[in-house]
Amino acid sequence: MEKQKLLAQGKAKSMYETDSESVLLMEFRDDASAFDGKKMSALNNKGKVNNQFNAFILDLLAKQGIETHFIETISTHESLVKKLDMFPIECVVRNRATGSLCRRLGVEDGLILDPPLFEFFLKDDALGDPLINENHILSFKWASQSDIDEMKRLTFQVNEILRELFDKANLILVDYKLEFGKFEGRVLLGDEFTPDGCRLWDKDTLEKLDKDRFRQDLGDVIESYQEVANRLGIEINLD
Ligand code: ADP
Ligand code: CDP
Repeated sequence: MEKQKLLAQGKAKSMYETDSESVLLMEFRDDASAFDGKKMSALNNKGKVNNQFNAFILDLLAKQGIETHFIETISTHESLVKKLDMFPIECVVRNRATGSLCRRLGVEDGLILDPPLFEFFLKDDALGDPLINENHILSFKWASQSDIDEMKRLTFQVNEILRELFDKANLILVDYKLEFGKFEGRVLLGDEFTPDGCRLWDKDTLEKLDKDRFRQDLGDVIESYQEVANRLGIEINLD
């Protein structure tokens, strides 16, 4: 598969066209960003760690029946994916309250949410990714009711699978963000699942092992991602 024209350059990944119309090359760069791109930095090995972390998780989800865009890794920091028609929407599930939810509703940090809370956000950095509901999605035609239902069903299904996976690694899956797109009429999981887009706390110490280390200048960002990978048995190749 040949790497061709750059299709889109996001804050952390670059998407390239390939010689197949339906396949993209997803490159994980070392760039880290937070606060809708207002804080940016380069973190050594981030691209390699996240590419291989994402491959492990999306492969595991596929084995559990969740259809994803992931095809295969082709280098330490690049993967091939199916080209999706992405919804401009972020799907967030929270098992514990933290981050923007605490700022918005004044609830205690770490509060257990039972049932887990589902939220939609509009993917728009300039607007600060605002919270939206299903009516916004329908009225602005960002997705249909059946697409909404499918995104919610899949996001909750991912929660069941990954909560258990991380629990066995002595980690709490606090919250996470997923993005979906359409492929041949079906809703597929796209983008990535890495410690960049979720929150993971050590079960005993509640130490943060995710992108909050970057957001809050706690240090050892990539070392923490690697610690999570180690606990899951993911072998990361940094060559
Ligand atoms: P951003 O800065 O937009 O948060 P990234 O740096 O993660 O994003 O860049 C990846 C971009 O590619 C995102 O806009 C994401 O929605 C999009 N994307 C992810 N997976 C696919 C896919 N399979 N097909 C098309 N676009 C995708
Ligand atoms: O980061 P912040 O506190 O502003 O956002 P949040 O709404 O509490 O984020 C919920 C979860 O979604 C966290 O795991 C974030 O890492 C993730 N997220 C993301 O990956 N990308 C975004 N644009 C927004 C949230």
